[in-house]
Amino acid sequence: MTAELLETQRLLSAAEIYNSTLASWAISAAWELGALDELNEHGKLDAIEFATRKNLDPASTVGMFAALASVKAVHRDDTLVWVGPNFEEVERYRSIFHWLARGCSGLFTEMPSVLRNENRHGEDFYQRDAGAISFACREINGRFWDPTFWQVMNGIDFEFTHVADLGSGSAARLIQILGRFPGTTGLGIDIAQGALDFAAGAVAEAGLSDRISFALDDARNLTAKPEYEKVELLTCFMMGHDFWPREDCVRNLRNLRALFPNVRKFLLGDATRTVGIADADKPVFSLGFEVGHDMMATYMPTIDEWLGVFGEGGWKLDKMHRMEVPAASVIFELS
Ligand SMILES: C[S@@+](CC[C@H](N)C(=O)[O-])C[C@H]1O[C@@H](n2cnc3c(N)ncnc32)[C@H](O)[C@@H]1O
Repeated sequence: MTAELLETQRLLSAAEIYNSTLASWAISAAWELGALDELNEHGKLDAIEFATRKNLDPASTVGMFAALASVKAVHRDDTLVWVGPNFEEVERYRSIFHWLARGCSGLFTEMPSVLRNENRHGEDFYQRDAGAISFACREINGRFWDPTFWQVMNGIDFEFTHVADLGSGSAARLIQILGRFPGTTGLGIDIAQGALDFAAGAVAEAGLSDRISFALDDARNLTAKPEYEKVELLTCFMMGHDFWPREDCVRNLRNLRALFPNVRKFLLGDATRTVGIADADKPVFSLGFEVGHDMMATYMPTIDEWLGVFGEGGWKLDKMHRMEVPAASVIFELS
């Protein structure tokens, strides 16, 4: 078969592209409303019974499943719904769809306005939903980052009692760390009140309100505080790109080095800009992540660019742990 023919066979019809767009919202909604979990557990459900039980509008609920059926995540015979050939993959990546469709919808919806140079000033030329992003990231963490994260944590060979997390989001990481290390206290720093509100609820639910505190602050502009001096373990996941571009990143890394003088390990984990992957071959997440950050005027470094800043920033790279999902993601183990 010629390369040209192969290429032709891969083309999506306009209808498939259109339906997939709607399906992204349907996947996010079906996760939030519990339908994906029920289908995962039982393999099938009745849309009207599901809607009645959850107090949802019946016609719209059937519509949500129709959108899922259009991408073969489910099959549907009128109101009866059962898992389709794409269900397993869709279910696995549901939080990544949610990040895009619910967390970043404000950004992508306003693409024409966000692209216009005359609008690209200050911090609020785009909107995202910090609470929805925290919700999605909690599962992105659990499913994709945790195995590597805990492998790194299990290798930590010193005692610690104070941990701080930059860009703490849902606080899931702090909750997990404090759960495993009973004598520790945690500090979460986040720039978004929406994320802190979400986190406060999660921390209360975990019964850890007395051991985790929060600060609404910009990790790029922190100023000295006595509590920072106690921190021995510093973590920062899925926000390190906000430290860039290069000159700023070096300054930020140096600043963190000075503000947290007793840190023994700094675990910095982030997705990076993919290199050498054609647009049509981008794996799930990468395109949304890269285009989204370009739109937000946030520099997205490659792994090689990261490797070029640690020395100048005052940190030693002990190890680098790479992950396949999300693509080009990495945990840098710094000391
Ligand atoms: C993608 S979420 C990741 C949340 C969390 N670290 C996790 O792994 O689930 C990024 C978080 O970083 C926060 N953030 C972004 N820029 C920040 C900054 N300059 N200072 C502090 N927090 C920031 C966002 O509000 C958001 O909660």
